[in-house]
Amino acid sequence: MKLAVFSAKPYDKRFLLRAHAKNHHFHSTIELAFHDFPLSSDTVPLAHGADAVCVFVNDTLDRAVLEDLNCAGVRAVLLRCAGFNNVDLEAAERLGMFVANVPSYPPEAVAEFAVALIQTLNRNTHRAYNRVREGNFDLNGLLGKTLRGRTVGIVGTGRIGIALARILRGFGCRLLAYDPFPTSAFDEFGEYADLDALLARSDIVSLHCPLMDSTRHIIDELSLKKIKKGAMLVNTSRGGLIKTSSVIEALKSGHLGGLALDVYEGEGTLFYQDHSDDIIQDDELMRLMTFPNVLVCGHQAFFTEEALAEIAECTLRNFDDFIMRVPCKNSLVREGHLLVKRGSHPQPNTLRFFSTRCLDPSPGKGSKHDHGSTG
Ligand SMILES: NC(=O)c1ccc[n+]([C@@H]2O[C@H](COP(=O)([O-])OP(=O)(O)OC[C@H]3O[C@@H](n4cnc5c(N)ncnc54)[C@H](O)[C@@H]3O)[C@@H](O)[C@H]2O)c1
Repeated sequence: MKLAVFSAKPYDKRFLLRAHAKNHHFHSTIELAFHDFPLSSDTVPLAHGADAVCVFVNDTLDRAVLEDLNCAGVRAVLLRCAGFNNVDLEAAERLGMFVANVPSYPPEAVAEFAVALIQTLNRNTHRAYNRVREGNFDLNGLLGKTLRGRTVGIVGTGRIGIALARILRGFGCRLLAYDPFPTSAFDEFGEYADLDALLARSDIVSLHCPLMDSTRHIIDELSLKKIKKGAMLVNTSRGGLIKTSSVIEALKSGHLGGLALDVYEGEGTLFYQDHSDDIIQDDELMRLMTFPNVLVCGHQAFFTEEALAEIAECTLRNFDDFIMRVPCKNSLVREGHLLVKRGSHPQPNTLRFFSTRCLDPSPGKGSKHDHGSTG
């Protein structure tokens, strides 16, 4: 079985090959072909001859691309991430394609990175680093605030939100959370509030909800007006949660005290590539870079050794389930891979497994499709 890996960086190759070698008995039928460019309508022809594609957060798998893949004989899409907002799952399901993600690499990778961003911006270590290298040991402009006793508002108390709460409790922060589907797992850390109250009361607001139609631009000019003056906003979730033009205005007016981004609305054409020789055309991103109280990273919160190892192993396990035609716990589509061999008849038991899992989401939660962008 051939697997065409798109957006493959050297580290993706290293971890996928390592996972492949480690579990050779398991994945012996898998042949890997690496492409360092993303999957899009332009690059679909490179998937010809493959049985499956392996993709990342900025690959495009809209209806047209999925149809092209399907015509080319590709039957499975393996996401090397948790988020699946870049895949048209309904189209995939209609085409009978298998789609699986990696939902559960350690959430601490992202939560710890959010803390790194908070503390960098709060204590100005990014500025101190540059200053000291120039022989400037002046402390003026580096004044921070002690985290102990400060109120942090966590928007989305899923795996990462709870991991962040656990860490911040250690710092002695007061914690507020907003989530339309509250969990008792947060009870030991703090209290739930509605979004407006969280914005008004928090010194730091950290976003950990998925990107969906209902959460796109959850931070816009209206919500920024509600945010406490001088508060810091942190986004390690998805760029589309924040309306960039609005945060620029809030930063210019001084109402927003700081902004730390690991993800950015327009990251698709920029992140994961070296543009240091290019004239970057994104004026909003460039404007953001001019603020001393803004920190932008290139979607790296997940990027730890442990997470990459788990992502590679889980991706190959998902592919193995597809090859063996057994139920895959990370499948994002109903019955998809059971339809892989045209004309075959799915076994009733296996069919029920997929139907139950996808049609009856856990109590209080939206359907898996609604959670369109975790990871
Ligand atoms: N920067 C990175 O490298 C990176 C890596 C992994 C995940 N992520 C992002 O982190 C996000 C969170 O991941 P997770 O594993 O904790 O997901 P999760 O599914 O475990 O949790 C998401 C939570 O958000 C909640 N939610 C849904 N709608 C909401 C709303 N309108 N307001 C507030 N909360 C809402 C859900 O109920 C759920 O509890 C993902 O959506 C993904 O986009 C980023």
